[in-house]
Amino acid sequence: MKAPVRVAVTGAAGQIGYSLLFRIASGDMLGPDQPVILQLLEVSPAMDALQGVVMELDDCAFPLVAGIQASDQAEEAFRDADYILLVGAKPRGPGMERKDLLEANAAIFSAQGKAMNAVASRDVRVLAVGNPANTNALIAMRNAPDLDPGRFTAMTRLDHNRALAQLSGRVGAHVNDITRMTVWGNHSATQYPDISHTLVKGSPAADQVDQAWLEETFIPTVQQRGAAIIKARGQSSAASAASAAIDHMRDWTLGTPEGDWVSMAIPSDGSYGIAEGLIYSFPVRCVNGHYEIVQGLDVDDFSRERMLATEQELTEERDAVAHLLP
Ligand code: NAI
Repeated sequence: MKAPVRVAVTGAAGQIGYSLLFRIASGDMLGPDQPVILQLLEVSPAMDALQGVVMELDDCAFPLVAGIQASDQAEEAFRDADYILLVGAKPRGPGMERKDLLEANAAIFSAQGKAMNAVASRDVRVLAVGNPANTNALIAMRNAPDLDPGRFTAMTRLDHNRALAQLSGRVGAHVNDITRMTVWGNHSATQYPDISHTLVKGSPAADQVDQAWLEETFIPTVQQRGAAIIKARGQSSAASAASAAIDHMRDWTLGTPEGDWVSMAIPSDGSYGIAEGLIYSFPVRCVNGHYEIVQGLDVDDFSRERMLATEQELTEERDAVAHLLP
């Protein structure tokens, strides 16, 4: 058995936390031979609820759990952390403008960025799930100057998985038969789910669906899926978000399957003309714990227009919090 690694999760008493922690603890994220120490962070008023979650984790008697700590102090929760999943965020309240939401979260993620800069493992991998996820990751990254910026990522894997599910239903193939899906840009309604390079049983997906379905059904359905879940369930997606976070961290750490790729929001290096430094979702391949952007994909005018629209939104988000970025 390997030595335990430390996994910090914020917002651990929330909805996503309630699905996520049990999957991390059972080995779904890092594999069946990797023990974990869970380091859970919540705000002070939620500490009682978090204790309840810790009691349930104890009661599962998970063989891979080597310790559980709960705290309301980021510097405690992030100490020596090898993985940090930033799930806790401030939700949009009544009458709150998008700018207010950005600012409220910028305060949280700048403080958490500073805390991880001070105490996390120098090898840490960070995933921002809490919204606005891409810009929250950017803020944490900019506040952690001693850590490798490439270790700061945001989650578009739920969008990627949603796109797989929609295409699978349309072409009548299992999701296992679909490879090379891409989600570009922001985890928001401007994201661009792109099937231009996707294969179904090894053949181009674009040949198996018509353009009208793509434009009028597929893209808007994936973009609006979060809102559809809220409408149906009365609460935002939680188990599927947790599952996507598991997928993101697992593939980053253990690698993507040969011949396939996944979508991760990562600091842009200028690939595909996307402004350097924005946390933008790209198609990536992961090997030996590192990701690299899939290069050389053809981008037609239809795709380019959508990739730029979501880049524009990310630029605006970044500018709205510019005064909080060191
Ligand atoms: P929730 O409201 O059930 O839980 C959030 C938890 O975070 C609460 O327990 C709260 O006390 C805690 N929290 C708030 N501020 C914190 C702080 N400064 N430090 C530590 N904990 C803090 O929300 P839920 O459903 O679990 O969602 C969490 C976030 O994930 C939301 O921002 C949501 O919009 C986002 N989300 C992102 C998705 C993605 O694909 N990137 C998909 C679904 C949700």
